[in-house]
Amino acid sequence: KKHYGVFGNPISHSKSPTIHTLFAKQTQQQLQYDAFCIEIDQFNSSVSEFFTNNGGGLNVTVPFKEAAFQLADHLTDRASQAGAVNTLWHDQQGKLWGDNTDGVGLVRDIQKNHNYSLQDKRILVIGAGGAVRGVMAPLLEATPQSITVANRTHEKAELLASLFQTFGSVTAQKLSSLASLVQSDGPFDLVVNGTAASLAGELPPLPESLIGPDTWTYDMMYGPTLTVFNQWAKDAGGCVQLDGLGMLVEQAAESFYCWRGIRPDTQPVIRQLLCEMQ
Ligand code: ATR
Repeated sequence: KKHYGVFGNPISHSKSPTIHTLFAKQTQQQLQYDAFCIEIDQFNSSVSEFFTNNGGGLNVTVPFKEAAFQLADHLTDRASQAGAVNTLWHDQQGKLWGDNTDGVGLVRDIQKNHNYSLQDKRILVIGAGGAVRGVMAPLLEATPQSITVANRTHEKAELLASLFQTFGSVTAQKLSSLASLVQSDGPFDLVVNGTAASLAGELPPLPESLIGPDTWTYDMMYGPTLTVFNQWAKDAGGCVQLDGLGMLVEQAAESFYCWRGIRPDTQPVIRQLLCEMQ
């Protein structure tokens, strides 16, 4: 039985062991998946040790995604675009591969699970940290009309926009100029919250006019109740509010596929997690 796992710090609330154990059962794969809390300065040595001891693959979460990016011998295109790695495995030659499945996870959750096509949509992304960088290329590859990035620290939004301009139409806007942008162009089709603000129950200062009656919102965070951001969007009259639980399961399914070559059915797993959170 090969061993798999997720490295993070903290890690106790991780749903990855539940998700991957359900995937393994569903696809009749013999594997063991556990969560490991890794000391900050022990990441590289822990990865080596894991793969030496019958390790088949690892997920990597906060705060180690950049360290995993640095450590990998080879990166997939989407991992090098993301500047971060959430999935590791060894090839036949013993070389360490790094991939990033977060972006496809987000796009699949929106387009496949919720049947919402991103094509030709006007998208606003709030935030410009690691989580947002990880999803920019896959979002742009879904050929939206445009992506506007706004962030508390505007320079980071500008940097991100310039980094991804070859993938499609992406521009940075100050949070303070969003209201006048909406006045000329109308509300956005989709607003994605990629900030860590909702973790602390906070919201970036956003004008309600961003949200129209047809506007969907997506919070990359999730919780048992509507996130602060989604509650705000609902109160502002938005159409549909989605949270990051589906993204979590979809990125896991893509990692599972990297390791085992089998794509699990995500729907029953999402349903089960939703039940457990009630
Ligand atoms: P992550 O890996 O979760 O993306 P990160 O790289 O530290 O973490 O990025 C956090 C993001 O959330 C940033 O866009 C950050 O804004 P700054 O770049 O200005 O720091 C944003 N963020 C965090 N707390 C916030 C808050 N209270 N209000 C608005 N934005 C916040």
